[in-house]
Amino acid sequence: MPDQTVTIEFFDQEPSTFAGDLLVFLVEEGIPQAAESGMGINRLLAKVQATGDFKGEKDQAFVLYPGLVGTDAAQGVAAKRVLFVGLGKPDEAINSRRERLRLAGGTIAKQAGAVKAKEVLLVPPKEYLLDAVEIGQCLCEGFLLGNYRFDLYKQPKEDDPPVRVERLLLHDGGLAASAVRKGLELGRILAEATCAARDMANQPGNGWTPADFAEYAKKLGKKSRLKCTILDKGDLQKLRMGGILGVNQGSAQPPFLVILEYKTNKKNPTVLLVGKGLTFDSGGISAKPPAGMEDMKYDMCGGAAVLAAMQAIVEIGVPEVNVVALVPATENLSGAAALKPGDIIRHYGGKSSEIINTDAEGRLILADALAYGIETYKPQAVIDVATLTGAVIIGLGHHYTGLLGNNDQWADQLTEAGARVGEPLWRLPLGPEYRKQIDSRIADIKNAGSDRSGGTITAACYLQEFVGETPWVHLDIAGTAWDFTEKTYIPKGPSGIGVRTLVDCLRQWRPIQSADKNQ
Ligand code: BES
Ligand code: ZN
Ligand code: ZN
Repeated sequence: MPDQTVTIEFFDQEPSTFAGDLLVFLVEEGIPQAAESGMGINRLLAKVQATGDFKGEKDQAFVLYPGLVGTDAAQGVAAKRVLFVGLGKPDEAINSRRERLRLAGGTIAKQAGAVKAKEVLLVPPKEYLLDAVEIGQCLCEGFLLGNYRFDLYKQPKEDDPPVRVERLLLHDGGLAASAVRKGLELGRILAEATCAARDMANQPGNGWTPADFAEYAKKLGKKSRLKCTILDKGDLQKLRMGGILGVNQGSAQPPFLVILEYKTNKKNPTVLLVGKGLTFDSGGISAKPPAGMEDMKYDMCGGAAVLAAMQAIVEIGVPEVNVVALVPATENLSGAAALKPGDIIRHYGGKSSEIINTDAEGRLILADALAYGIETYKPQAVIDVATLTGAVIIGLGHHYTGLLGNNDQWADQLTEAGARVGEPLWRLPLGPEYRKQIDSRIADIKNAGSDRSGGTITAACYLQEFVGETPWVHLDIAGTAWDFTEKTYIPKGPSGIGVRTLVDCLRQWRPIQSADKNQ
């Protein structure tokens, strides 16, 4: 994996003494002040604002070179460049205030890249209406997410070697220094985990196989206090996991069920996370059309999100819950031994399934993992994350993740977490009228409806068969795992979606009252 670590430090001297490449101030639209009063920077900003060229609009950026300006105001500023970044209008809701800081962080990363800055000092806005921890967190998160590159497979150009930001420094900007420091650390952990998920996703099918999921989890287990268990093909056979084994039949790569356990206290409830780890989805015998098939290396983004979330959870700590993560991992290929339409498989626990379409394979591997995870770990709540259906892109496009589930409280907790972190979720219904579409004449259930109507919902109905009464939420990230809403901190390619939502949701965990179960 590429090592892109940026050193992040706290800077406790006067920002004007910073002699690095880029000194950054954030400015809200209509507010004539960037830093603590008394700094020459504010006089400089006043001059810039007077030109009318920089108002502090969202994502607006203005670079100036103090050494070249020669005004009184610029004197005493040691940095090579000063960058003013706009935060937009101040009068919005709290989630939008968080998002505006992440966007500003992404803008700073872009500007730093454009001037090949290696050392950046960021001064947070003093009068910004958000808790100081969150100010530090959102800025750091946005910056590191915006600074992401994946160039493992590119040869560096000799005449133009890539320059990367090596040190990000954060000043307290007049806020409580310990709070800003704490936020900085949270932001770093969350962004690094999200970038780890992006790295896994960017790897091609021949660079990230089911065995790589197993290796990654083992390494994570070794260097942290996560317990790692890897179930291999023999174990899956003993456990009769016909879904994972069936999908794997056409592949030369052995399948795995990867398990990571984060334990706090036996008395605490357990939350089960399950991520689809399909390292390449050709559709199998029900082959996908060739155009765009290369994107199906991203069919493991759910698994990546779940493993990366565990990486962040162990660093940040979620003291009120135990967390178990399961990633069923295989390829879906065609071949002499591959699963065929019409075949019947038997899932873990005994339920039989008639295969109508071998391209509806995600639900087959998730079904085994859900049934096994629920029986083994008896979780109080379950979340699965999967690039499950093309239909969710038809319904919601690339801007909202589809959410379906059997419990309003749990669905609300996820929706709130997604809104807080800038990964919006939209709930779709479930119900017997949809479930009927996957009734099979000769097996307990079939893996696809006879028409494509309500495809995201019928896929979730399939999964629902394997969760029983346990509060469960399914996130269909097929539209958002890559090509997600263009933002300064979301690159083209995989977004790493889900990692920050999962961690945030677990940090804000509220016990689910069983009386309110629905659907
Ligand atoms: N991995 C795909 C879903 C997908 C499609 C993700 C496009 C991202 C972009 C999944 O395995 C699949 O092929 N689903 C089928 C189900 C159908 C055959 C019932 C689909 O959505 O077409
Ligand atoms: Zn498929
Ligand atoms: Zn798939």
